Amino acid sequence: MWWLRALWAVVALTHCSAMDRNKEMALKLMKETPLIDGHNDLPWQMRKQFNNQLSKVDLNTIQTTHTNIPKIKEGHLAAQFWSAYVPCDTQHKDAVRQTLEQIDIIHRMCDAYPETFMFATSSQDIMDAFIMNKTASLIGVEGGHSIDSSLGILRIMYQLGVRYLTLTHSCNTPWVDNWKVDTGSEPPVHNGLSQFGIQVVKEMNRLGMLIDLAHVSEKVMNQVLDLSKAPIIFSHSSAYSLCQHKRNVPDAVLKRVRDKAGIVMVNFYNDYVTCSQTANLSQVADHFDHIRKVAGHTIIGFGSDFDGVRRLPTGLEDVSKFPDLVAELLRRGWNDTEIRGALGENMLRVLKEVERVRDSLIKDPPDDVPIPYEQVENACRTSYGYVTLENSANSASRSRLVLALATLLSCFFWVPSHSC
Ligand SMILES: *[C@@H]1O[C@H](CO)[C@@H](O)[C@H](O)[C@H]1NC(C)=O
Ligand SMILES: *[C@@H]1O[C@H](CO)[C@@H](O)[C@H](O)[C@H]1NC(C)=O
Ligand SMILES: *[C@@H]1O[C@H](CO)[C@@H](O)[C@H](O)[C@H]1NC(C)=O
Ligand SMILES: [Zn+2]
Repeated sequence: MWWLRALWAVVALTHCSAMDRNKEMALKLMKETPLIDGHNDLPWQMRKQFNNQLSKVDLNTIQTTHTNIPKIKEGHLAAQFWSAYVPCDTQHKDAVRQTLEQIDIIHRMCDAYPETFMFATSSQDIMDAFIMNKTASLIGVEGGHSIDSSLGILRIMYQLGVRYLTLTHSCNTPWVDNWKVDTGSEPPVHNGLSQFGIQVVKEMNRLGMLIDLAHVSEKVMNQVLDLSKAPIIFSHSSAYSLCQHKRNVPDAVLKRVRDKAGIVMVNFYNDYVTCSQTANLSQVADHFDHIRKVAGHTIIGFGSDFDGVRRLPTGLEDVSKFPDLVAELLRRGWNDTEIRGALGENMLRVLKEVERVRDSLIKDPPDDVPIPYEQVENACRTSYGYVTLENSANSASRSRLVLALATLLSCFFWVPSHSC
C-alpha cells in the first residue's frame, strides 16, 4: 500500500519539519561560514585532570570534558580561541611559567591531532583552516597577571601566537582593576587603568593583539573604549540587562562597542545567563536577542566558556550543541546576514581591523618604558636594571624600602601571603 506509506511520510514530515528545517538551515549556514568561538578552557582541563600530560589523554574519546573531537565535528566548530588561563593565585609567583605551559599545551594539541586542529594566528589562517575542514586554533591569555607587569613578556607571548589578552581575570593586577571592584568585594587600586596599563593597551594596538574586556571593571571598559585605536572584544560575557552580574556587559557599553565596531561573544555559563544555577538554550538565545536589540547584530558572537564553567544550560551541554543554538536563532527570525555575522563574520571583521591597525603602526617602536619598580608589588622580583650606577644608593634603598613597606602592608591588608 504505497499511498498509505506516502501519507504517513507526509504526516511525519509536517510534524517535525519546522524544527528540522531550522537545524538543516543552521548546518547549511555553518558549512558556508566559520563558527568562531571566543573562549574555551580545554587547556586548563588538561592541566587540572592530567597535569598537562597530553600523552595520557585521547581527545577522540575523552568524556570528562565539554570538548572532544567528535563533539567538535558535530558542533561544526571552525575556529576556537583556546584559553591559556592560570588562576589568580599564581600572580607574583609562577604565573608566567604556568601561562607559557598552557601556551605550550595548545601548540602540542595542534601537533598531536593535525587532522583536527590547525594552529592559527590571523584572520587569513581562520579561513584557510575552514577550507581544509580543520578547527583553526588560536590562543587567548586570560588575565593580565600572566604578563607579570612586563611589556617584554607581552611581546614574547604575541610571538608565541597569543592573539588576545583579557586584561584581568578575577583579580586586580598592578596596573588594572577587575570586575570584582564593581561588586565592592575588592578595593579599586588604580581607579581603572594605571599609566602602565595605558602603555599595555597601546602596545597591544601596536602588536595587533586583541584587547579583551571580559572580567575588567566598568571603568576600565570605558577607558579602553576611549583609548584603543582598534576595536575591542568581550571574549566571553553576556548582557547585564538580562542578568545583573558584573561579569556581564551593560547596555551603555554595548552601544559603545557598536560605535567602535567591536564584538561581545555571549557566555553560556548559567550564572551569567540567568543569575541562577539553572538555564536553558532558549535563555541564552535571549541574550543574543537583547544584544541585537540594543546594539545591532554586527557586534554579536559566541563565547561559550566550555570547560571553564561548572553549570551549562539544558540543550547547550557541550561543544556539539552549537548548531541547536543557531537553529533557535533562526526560529526567532534571525536572517542569514545576522546569523553569518554572529557565527564568524563579525569576529573576522574585528580581527582584520586589529591587523590593519597593527600594520598602520608599523613604524612605531616597541614601548620600552618599564613599570615603575614601586608599582610592581611582586616581592619575588629582583630590581636589576632599575638601579643604575648613576642612581644614588639612596634612591636604590628608597625603592627597596617602598617595596618592603608595600609588601609588609599587603601582608596585613591583603589576602594570601606574598612569599615566593
Ligand atoms: C571538506 O569537507 C567537505 C564536505 O564534507 C568536502 O566536500 C571537502 O572536499 C573537504 N575539503 C577538504 C580540503 O578536505
Ligand atoms: C527555558 O526556561 C524558561 C524559564 O524557566 C521557560 O519559560 C522556557 O519554557 C524554557 N524553554 C525550554 C525550551 O525549555
Ligand atoms: C537582515 O536583517 C538586517 C537587520 O538586522 C538587515 O539589515 C538585512 O538587510 C537583512 N538581510 C536580509 C537578507 O534580509
Ligand atoms: Zn573567564
